[in-house]
Amino acid sequence: MLTTLSVQLLFLFNPVNSVLQQLYCTIADSCNCDFKPNIKGLEWDLYRNLYGQHLVQDIVSEEVAKFLQNKNPDRPLVLSFNGPSGTGKTLVSSMLGNHLYGSAMSSPYVHQFVPTLHFPLPDRVKQYREDLKSWVQGNLTECARSVFFFDEMEKMPPGVVDVLEPFLGPSHVVFRTNYRKAIYVFIGTTGEEVITRVALENRQAGRDREEIKLHDLQEALAQTVHNSSTSGFFNSSIIQQRLITRFVPFLPLCRHHVERCVRSQLCSQGLCSRDDVVEAVGGAMTYTPFQGHYFSSTGCKAVTAKINLFL
Ligand SMILES: *[C@@H]1O[C@H](CO)[C@@H](O)[C@H](O)[C@H]1NC(C)=O
Ligand SMILES: *[C@@H]1O[C@H](CO)[C@@H](O)[C@H](O)[C@H]1NC(C)=O
Ligand SMILES: *[C@@H]1O[C@H](CO)[C@@H](O)[C@H](O)[C@H]1NC(C)=O
Repeated sequence: MLTTLSVQLLFLFNPVNSVLQQLYCTIADSCNCDFKPNIKGLEWDLYRNLYGQHLVQDIVSEEVAKFLQNKNPDRPLVLSFNGPSGTGKTLVSSMLGNHLYGSAMSSPYVHQFVPTLHFPLPDRVKQYREDLKSWVQGNLTECARSVFFFDEMEKMPPGVVDVLEPFLGPSHVVFRTNYRKAIYVFIGTTGEEVITRVALENRQAGRDREEIKLHDLQEALAQTVHNSSTSGFFNSSIIQQRLITRFVPFLPLCRHHVERCVRSQLCSQGLCSRDDVVEAVGGAMTYTPFQGHYFSSTGCKAVTAKINLFL
C-alpha cells in the first residue's frame, strides 16, 4: 500500500525533487533512479569500438549481464581495470555509464573519484576515509544502482578505499539495505608490467593474442596491486578478502590496433579514405621492446594530436 502510494507520488511530482526521491527509495527498496541498462548495446559497443581487448570484451559483458540479471545480488559488482595507458580503460568506463543510465555519464548516479582532485594529500587519509564513506553511503541512499569509478588508482593514497570494505562484500553489516546493487570500478596502471610481460611471452612463443587467458593474470594482478606501494590497494583488506569480483586486464596494443583507432577517428571526421594518414600515424608511434617493436608505448592515447600533424 505504502509502496503504491509512493509510486503514485512519484508520477504526480517529478522525482527530480530529491526529498521525494529519497523517500521513495527508502520505502520501495527498489529505487531504480535513472537506471536504463542496455546490455546488448554495451556488448555491441565493446565489440565494435574497443580494439585488441578480447579479455575485456568477454569479462565486462559477462559480469555486467550476470550482475544485472540478478534482481537481488548478494554483493555488489566490483571490477578492477588494469593496464598501460591508452589501452581503453577510460573508454570502457564511459561505455558502462552510457549503457546503464538514461543520461549516460552525466547521470547524477555515476560518481567519479580522482585522487589528484578528491584525495591529493597522503597525510589526510583519515579525513578522506570519512568523506568517502559518507559520500558513498549518501549516494547509495539516493540510488541503490549507483556506479562509482575510481580513477588513477596508482595515485590513490593507500588506506583510503579500504573504508569501502564493508560495502563491497556480502557481509551483514547493514548501511541501509541497498548497497549490494552498486557497481564499483577501480581504474589504474598498476600491474601493467605483469600484463605486458604475459603479452610479450605469448607473442614470443608465436601464439595468438586471443590465446592469453584471464586465468594467467587474475592472481598475478591481485598480488601486484596488493604488494605495490604505488597502488591505492597497497596492503588492502579489500584484496586480502578477495572482494574484487574480477580483475580486467587491458593488453598493450599493437600497431594495427593503433591504426584502427586512427581510422575510426578519421572516419568520424568524414576522412575514411585517408590511408596515408593511418600509415603515417602508425609509423610515428613508439614501439617496445627494442627487440621486436611489438607494442605501442602510448596505445591510442596520443592519436588525435598525431592525426592533426599529418592532415
Ligand atoms: C555523492 O557523492 C558526491 C561525490 O561524488 C558528493 O559530493 C555528494 O555529497 C554525495 N551525495 C550524498 C547525498 O552524500
Ligand atoms: C606479494 O606478497 C606476498 C606476501 O608478502 C608474497 O607471498 C607474494 O609472493 C608477493 N607477490 C608478488 C607478485 O610480489
Ligand atoms: C599491512 O596491514 C597490517 C594490518 O592490516 C599491518 O599490521 C602491517 O604492518 C601492514 N603492512 C605494511 C607493509 O604496511
